[in-house]
This record gives sequence, C-alpha cells and structure tokens, in this order.
Amino acid sequence: MIKKKPITEFLKTIIILLLFQLSTSSHRKPPPLPILPIPKSRQISWQIAEMALFLHFGTNTFTDSEWGTGHVDPSIFNPKLLNATQWVTVAKDFGFKRVVLTAKHHDGFCLWPSKYTDYSVKSSPWRNGVGDIVADLAEAARNGGLELGLYLSPWDRHEHCYGETLEYNEYYMGQMTELLTRYGEIKYVFLDGAKGDGEKDMEYFFDDWFSLIHQLQPGASIFSDVGPDTRWVGNENGVAGSTCWSLFNGSEVKIGGYSDARYSAEGDAFGQDWVPAECDVSIRSGWFWHASEKPKSAMTLLDLYYKSVGRNCPLLLNVPPNSSGLISDEDIHVLKEFSELRNSIFSHNLAKSALLSASSIRGDPNDSQFSPKNVIEEGLYTYWAPDQGQQSDWTLYLEFQQVITFNVLGLQEPIQMGQRIIEFHLDMLDENGKWQHVVNGTTVGYRRLLLFPTVKSHLLRLVIDKSKVFPLISHLGIYMDSYTVPRHVSDDTHTKSKFINNLFFRRTAYNQSQSASI
Ligand SMILES: *[C@@H]1O[C@H](CO)[C@@H](O)[C@H](O)[C@H]1NC(C)=O
Ligand SMILES: *[C@@H]1O[C@H](CO)[C@@H](O)[C@H](O)[C@H]1NC(C)=O
Ligand SMILES: *[C@@H]1O[C@H](CO)[C@@H](O)[C@H](O)[C@H]1NC(C)=O
Ligand SMILES: *[C@@H]1O[C@H](CO)[C@@H](O)[C@H](O)[C@H]1NC(C)=O
Ligand SMILES: *[C@@H]1O[C@H](CO)[C@@H](O)[C@H](O)[C@H]1NC(C)=O
Ligand SMILES: *[C@@H]1O[C@H](CO)[C@@H](O)[C@H](O)[C@H]1NC(C)=O
Repeated sequence: MIKKKPITEFLKTIIILLLFQLSTSSHRKPPPLPILPIPKSRQISWQIAEMALFLHFGTNTFTDSEWGTGHVDPSIFNPKLLNATQWVTVAKDFGFKRVVLTAKHHDGFCLWPSKYTDYSVKSSPWRNGVGDIVADLAEAARNGGLELGLYLSPWDRHEHCYGETLEYNEYYMGQMTELLTRYGEIKYVFLDGAKGDGEKDMEYFFDDWFSLIHQLQPGASIFSDVGPDTRWVGNENGVAGSTCWSLFNGSEVKIGGYSDARYSAEGDAFGQDWVPAECDVSIRSGWFWHASEKPKSAMTLLDLYYKSVGRNCPLLLNVPPNSSGLISDEDIHVLKEFSELRNSIFSHNLAKSALLSASSIRGDPNDSQFSPKNVIEEGLYTYWAPDQGQQSDWTLYLEFQQVITFNVLGLQEPIQMGQRIIEFHLDMLDENGKWQHVVNGTTVGYRRLLLFPTVKSHLLRLVIDKSKVFPLISHLGIYMDSYTVPRHVSDDTHTKSKFINNLFFRRTAYNQSQSASI
C-alpha cells in the first residue's frame, strides 16, 4: 500500500528541483559546426588505438624467405609452441590496442582451414591439421580486450585460378567471407594491390570487396593505398610527412599503382575524403622472422613513434613470431624498453601544473564547456574553442609557478569536428621578459608531437597562425624527453623538420640497466 504523505513529499521535491533548474539554467552556447569531411565512427575508433601490432607469420617463417613461391610443401609448417595468447599479451603489455595477422600472404598458404583450398594449416603437421591460427588469435584478442585485424593477400602465388579475373575474385570474396563471419568482430582489414608479373591484366574488384567487408563487419576500417578508411602512408619506413592531413582525394591514387609518395605521406589540405594515413614498418628489416635478423633498438622505435603517431598517423608495427610460433625474447625486450621510454616521457604532462588562459573563449567564459582548461583533459570530446568572431588571435597561454624545462610539445584536435589547423608555433618568455620562438609546426590532426632543443621558461604561448576555420584544441602536452637529443639548434622551420628526421641519440643517457628502473 502506498501512503499519501510520501507521494506529496515526493511531488514537492520534484517541484522544488524543477524550480531550482529553471532559476539556474542559462542557455549554453552549442558546439560549433564541424568542417567537412569528418571521420566515420569506425575511423575514430581505429585512430584512437594509436598503435597496432602486425604479425607476419606463415610458411615464409620456416623457409627464411619474404615472398613464398606458393609451392612450398605444407609439411614445413609446424610451429610447435604456437601460443596466440603470448602474442596478445606482448601487444597488450606494451601499449598496442590491436593485433593484425597475415591470414594469407602472397604465397597463398592460409592460416585458417579455408573450405576453398587445401593449401592451409589443415595440410600441415601442426596440431595434426586440426588447428586454426585465426581462431586462436581471435579468442586470445577477445580475452585480452584487443581489437583484431586481418590481412588477406590479393596476390596468391598458389591458387590455380589466380589470373582468371572472375574466378579469382569469387575465390577471394569466398575467403574474405569466411574470415569475416567465423571469428566474431573484426575491426580492421589490411589490403594491398600486389600482383604477379604475369598477371597484370587480372582485375581486382576492389569496390565489391570493400562493400562486402563493410556489409559483414561495419565496424572494420579498411586499409589500402587509397582507403576507403585508412590510406597507406606511401613508404614502409613508418614515417609520415611532417605536414600530414587526414584529408585526401582517393581518386588521385590507384591501388597497387605507382602512387605519388608525397601525396600519400602528406595528404591534401583540400581533400574531399577523410582517409587518414597509417604507418607500417617492421621491427626487423624483414616482415617475416629470420634467425639472422635482429630487432631495431627501442630508441629507433621511439624516433619512429614521433614520426608516425606524432604526425597524426597510427603506427602498425610488425613483430613477426618465430618458427616456434612465439614472439622472440629479443623483440619482447625491445618492446618493453620502448614502452618504458614512452611512459617515462608522456605520463608526465607539465602543462597540468600551468594556469591556462586564452585569447578568447566561445560562449560564457565562466562555463567550462569550451574553457582552455579542457586541453589538459585526455580525450577528444573536451576542447578549448575560441570566440567565433575572433578571427586573428587564437592563442593559449600557460603560466607556471616555477620555471619548467622541456623539449616536447604535444597537441590534439577534436577530429570529430574535422581537421582545421594549418600552422602553429610555440613561444616562451625568456629571462629578459622577451618572447622567444620555440618551435613552428604545420597540421595537428589526431596527435602532433614536436621535439626541439631543451628550453626553460615559466610562461608559454601557443599561437595558431593559420587554420581552415577557427581552431579547436582538445589536448596540449608539455613534456621532457631526456633520452632523445636533437643534433643541433636552428630557428629555421625547414631545418627543424630536417633535424627531427636526423635525430642523434645520446646513447650513454640511456642504457638497459637504467631502463629497468624507469
Ligand atoms: C601462452 O602464453 C601465455 C602468456 O604468455 C601464458 O600465460 C600461457 O601459459 C602460455 N600457454 C602455454 C600453453 O604455454
Ligand atoms: C582534391 O579535390 C578538391 C575538391 O575537388 C580539389 O580542390 C583539390 O585540388 C584536389 N586535390 C588534388 C591534389 O587534386
Ligand atoms: C622463439 O621465441 C621463444 C621466446 O618467446 C624462444 O623460447 C624460442 O627459442 C624461439 N624460437 C626460435 C626458433 O628462435
Ligand atoms: C563570471 O564570473 C565572474 C566572477 O565570479 C563574474 O564577475 C562575472 O560577471 C561572470 N561573467 C559572466 C559573463 O557571467
Ligand atoms: C614561425 O611562425 C611565426 C608566426 O607565423 C613566424 O613569425 C615565424 O617567422 C616562423 N618562423 C620560422 C622560422 O619560420
Ligand atoms: C647505465 O645506467 C646505470 C644506472 O643508472 C649506470 O650506473 C651506468 O653507469 C650506466 N652505464 C653506461 C654505460 O652509461
């Protein structure tokens, strides 16, 4: 039974609350308009992962080759200790959010038991032919909370119908359907346009493939030379342009064709499509594991991080499992150091201790929604917005209680609102009370990191010099990287981007015994 009194009490509370709401509510200024093109939701989730681990694995792992002929006997494939949980654990422990497997490379050997060919794990001695590496990895990734991506090579040096346009496109789409329907959610599909010399006339039905992939896995971002969701950066060194737009005209580039490497690396300020670049590179010189190759150093990976993630491009780092079916200890060691370096540098944002102010603020300056303080918060959805009418001065000021020492600037734009910033620079007040130039940059996008000679100051200003429309900034970081030391100091923008390309590593400042204690 409900008594009357509580109900009246309840209604009274509601009315009081409503009146309170009415008396204090003021009309908030809505967010500004985005500037088109803007990313699709799958592209945002692909981008914020920042780093993915590429796993090149297959018959090549056992034959010491990079491009299998397609005629290697499957009996060679026997990774006795294969453990996909080890791959995922390595990825997860050292900061990778996605694992991407070569389900089939150019040699045509399938790491899952495809119904359309016998050239697969089912003809190998591994687990007596009943194993499925894609299934193992899918399960391990799901358990570890990582995203799964797959590479299905269009070029197939084994399949007899390769070269017959219709038959081979049917075969390819049949295999793609197996991969995208058997293993749960797939978040990423990597494609290239490679073809055999004798089969240049065969057509790949890319439009059909892309439509099928999006139909079966709407959350999957597709990588190719031109997108549709993410584009190749134009080199296999893992280096993006120091100007790097997520905007692009897909029609300018042909998949597998001879493309303009600079256009791929820099994108297009006037591009009509949102197709951000991704940087793929291997931790070793080859893509597959070779006993004779050694991994790059952690400092080299840190340099690559600045040139990929720090230039608005996720890093797809290949770490090939060895012939036992495990990621080698030496690679794990380097990944651990690389992760410790990043944590040591980027977990301490000096800007958090600054008093932040801006040349102008959108809407009510007492309302936090577009406040400059938002740039300290992580994430894309809190940002500083200047007053829309203020066309000439877009500046953020950071005032510190004490002099700070730093050499890295990090910036992020709320990319869901489009990519806006064209040019910016950072100034600091010197000990004589004069503004000194610290660094200039072009384009920001999802993340921009700029490294420069170490400076000290207690007052900084970030000036947006040029923007497509008024800029928005979702994150600002000021860091000290005491491991990487630029070779020389220069005021010139062009020399600056050159010296960042030629970083000199003060190796004595960093050694393995130190790294363990970071
Ligand atoms: C597989 O690797 C994981 C993570 O390294 C480990 O915990 C597990 O014991 C391994 N499984 C086998 C069968 O070795
Ligand atoms: C990309 O397309 C836009 C709009 O059509 C055009 O203005 C721009 O010049 C194109 N870029 C290139 C490199 O052709
Ligand atoms: C593969 O890596 C594991 C370490 O994870 C190591 O124990 C094994 O010996 C390696 N296999 C080969 C062939 O190097
Ligand atoms: C903002 O807050 C300050 C101090 O509380 C007050 O003086 C000022 O009138 C407020 N401005 C607006 C636009 O509400
Ligand atoms: C950096 O940008 C500022 C502002 O546009 C400009 O005044 C300065 O000349 C630039 N510096 C260099 C070295 O290009
Ligand atoms: C490496 O670091 C340790 C710990 O900081 C230090 O004692 C040692 O001298 C360093 N070694 C070199 C070669 O710099």
